Amino acid sequence: MNMFSSVKKDEKTGQKRKKGIYPGSFDPVTLGHLDIIKRASKLSDELVIGVLKNSSKKPLFSVEERVALLKKVTGDIPNVRIEPFYGLLVDFARIEKADFIVRGLRAVTDFEYEIQIAQTNHKMCPEVDTVFFTTSVEYSFVSSSLVREIASYGGDISAFVPKCIMKDIYEKYNKRTEE
Ligand code: PNS
Repeated sequence: MNMFSSVKKDEKTGQKRKKGIYPGSFDPVTLGHLDIIKRASKLSDELVIGVLKNSSKKPLFSVEERVALLKKVTGDIPNVRIEPFYGLLVDFARIEKADFIVRGLRAVTDFEYEIQIAQTNHKMCPEVDTVFFTTSVEYSFVSSSLVREIASYGGDISAFVPKCIMKDIYEKYNKRTEE
């Protein structure tokens, strides 16, 4: 993580470039995440994907592996950067001098949790707002935990994750590795 990120301005207009942060566990990144990344990157000058090193959960992939998988699937999106973060999201947002936080809403069941963290984050850090993207309908039921469960039994995860990371996921479970 770059502790010394400075505010970047647009060369032509001198306007501050709008920076978004899309935080999450991404264990692993799914097609639903990628959909949000593509759409949010179009509305930001720069989109930083913050990968949480979560001390309370035991993830399938280490934070370094999750960062590498995200780099693999976003390699063709020029204004996206992937960074690990530790601790509070608002501290990461301050270090990055972010303008807004991006989160995806799949269904009403996400709403209660999301509104709680968005309001708490805004209370702690009023200069950063949370912007919600409604997940595209075809990914509204996709989650990293569902992908992990299917992959653990060797099931087909091709409808849920980018093709280029399927092998990495199956290898974690010593399951089928054909792509
Ligand atoms: O992909 P996830 O697991 O739904 O992402 C949750 C995440 C990373 C956004 C959330 O757990 C988070 O921001 N954690 C960092 C710790 C923090 O700031 N907690 C207070 C939020 S009120």
